[in-house]
Parts: sequence; structure tokens; C-alpha cells
Amino acid sequence: MKINGKHYRSVWPQGENAFGIIDQTKLPHEFVTLTLRSAEDAAHAIRSMQTRGAPLIGAVAAYGLALALRADPSDENLMLASANLSATRPTAVNLAWALKRVADAVCNRPRAERAALAWKEAQAIADEDVAMCESIGRHGLGLIREMAERKKRKLNILTHCNAGWLATVDYGTALAPVYLAHDAGIALHVWVDETRPRNQGASLTAFELGGHGVAHTIIADNAGGHYMQAGEVDLCLVGTDRVTANGDVANKIGTYLKALAAKDNDVPFYVALPSSTIDWSLPSGRDIPIEERSSDEVLKLTGRTTDGRLATVEIAAPGSAAANPGFDITPARLVTGFITERGVCAASETGLRGLFPQSETKAP
Ligand code: MRU
Repeated sequence: MKINGKHYRSVWPQGENAFGIIDQTKLPHEFVTLTLRSAEDAAHAIRSMQTRGAPLIGAVAAYGLALALRADPSDENLMLASANLSATRPTAVNLAWALKRVADAVCNRPRAERAALAWKEAQAIADEDVAMCESIGRHGLGLIREMAERKKRKLNILTHCNAGWLATVDYGTALAPVYLAHDAGIALHVWVDETRPRNQGASLTAFELGGHGVAHTIIADNAGGHYMQAGEVDLCLVGTDRVTANGDVANKIGTYLKALAAKDNDVPFYVALPSSTIDWSLPSGRDIPIEERSSDEVLKLTGRTTDGRLATVEIAAPGSAAANPGFDITPARLVTGFITERGVCAASETGLRGLFPQSETKAP
């Protein structure tokens, strides 16, 4: 993805002792990059959501674990650093998946080789994520092109949260097909759910789409159902943090309500994901741990003041409590289909197994 004419990934190596990320808590107001030099730096960046999005936190955790092994390649430190990184955010399975990949790559190898092997594995995870997202883009493009040819008019696509290049290493999941369709000259417009409480839609998705020149409009989270009833949504396209074996989908809080409204209005509801987001070990979405975040995210808002400063303000009645579940579960029956790096399939175990017949059912 290009920012001011320069190509960026959302995570990149800086030599073999550090790596870079974009500080997403500053977007869209400031473009700031950070250098992370330890597993603790990586854990802090994930927990504070300086870096976020299921595939991206997997890649960042992998680099973080490699740095932990550079400091101390013992089995004890491998287990400790892995547990610390894994505990940062519970819902996205990509985190545990990436940490297991790095651990598997080093566990039976001499200590002197471990840091270099782990670094190589982290780079492979990042590169593979880019390839998977590009492929998701191509499969999703087919779907969008078919719809555009059938409807013979500009398409309106609704998305929730940020499942673009900022949430992955590059391209994105749900937004990858949007970018490719725009680049292919297909007329489209994106309804961007603001995505309270952290506003990833208003801040990050709008930043991405604007940067790419894609027409878009930010809407309050509650407005999507209205536009669906009015026939102004042709397709809902979202990402996911974990898909269970039966096709249930965990994604940013509010996704479920959009899927319900889509079902009621016969709007196709597609979920885009790389295979690293499938948790074959869980039979259904009921078993997915839902992250509960600070009530401050609901009670306060951060933004830019008219004199250009970033400021946080209180928006709620003083003394009121707030609950803040970060994700919800959309049952497979509300999902029209999955767009994966291997193609489009039904949101069911049969659909997923048709594309990924060899995948292990063990927990990552
Ligand atoms: O809490 P976040 O911002 O990390 O949540 C991100 C999402 O819910 C995305 O939709 C999901 O990770 C898919 S990313 C390609």
C-alpha cells in the first residue's frame, strides 16, 4: 500500500534485531512509525492496539517471539515469551497460530540457530499473508465483477471495522477485492461503518479507501439496516478474527447485527479470510473467547481538536459504568459465503473442508 507515494507494509523487518510498524492509534490524524526491539515491545503494541487486525497481530507476535529468542533462546524463554504474547488479545486465532508456527520451527533445533530460524519464519508468515490476501482479492473480485455485470450500475458495498491493508501485512481481506475492483474500473462506493467504540471504520478504513481513491461514506453503526431496507446496499463484505469448524464467525462487535439486517433484506453477506484465521479445533462460535476491553473506550473518545491537537474527551454521564465486548459471533447460517485464498465457499464445515481438506484439527 502506498502512503504519500511510498510503499508500505503494515510490519517490516529492520535488520535482524528490530522491526517496524505503523502506529494505528495515531491514524488518520498523524502517520507515525514505531521501531519495536523486543518481545515486550511487541506485546505492548498489540495490547494497546498500536498494531491490530487478526492477520497483522499474528505477524507482529511472530517477529516479537523471534526477538525474545535473540535475547534468550532457551526452551523456558520460548514458552514464557510465547505465553506472554499469546495473552495480549484472546479472540483472533492468528496470534496463537503464528506463535505455534515459530515455536514449531525452532523447538528441536540447537539454541544457537533458534533466533535466525524464528526470524526467517516470521518473515515467511508476513510474506505468505501478503500472498493470501492478494489471492483473496482476486477471488472476491470475481464475485464483485459478476454482481456489477448483473446489476449494470454502480455497486454499494458495506463494510464493518477495518479489514484492509492496515489489518493485515498488505492488501487486506475484505478490502482487497474492493481495491482490485476499483483498479479494474468497476464503479463502486463503500458504506463505512464507523465501528464504535474505537472507530476503526471512521479512522482506518476511511483513511485507506481515501488514500486509494475509492468513493466511500462513513455512517453511524446504526445506519446500515436503514440503507439495506432502502436497497442501497448490494453486498456486505467483512473480515474476521476467527472462524470455527462449522463456519461461525467472530468479528468486530456489531458484525452480527449487520448480518441479521442483511439476512432480513436479502443482501449477500460475505466474510473474507486467510486460512490462518480458521480454528479447526473449535466446533462452534460459542467456544470463542470474546475480548472484554476497557470501559474507557466506550466512555471516552479521542480525536483531533479544531486547533490540531489530539485530545481525549469524556462523552458519558459521570459515574456510569460501561461494558465493552470487542467482538461478537455471527452464526454461519447468516453468512452467504467465505472468500479465502483458495476460492469462495459455503460458510459450513463442508464448504471449508472442500477448500482445505488437509488442515489439522488440533488447537494452535
Ligand atoms: O480489534 P481489532 O481492530 O483488531 O479488530 C479487527 C477486526 O475485527 C477485523 O475485522 C478483523 O481482524 C479482520 S482483519 C483482516
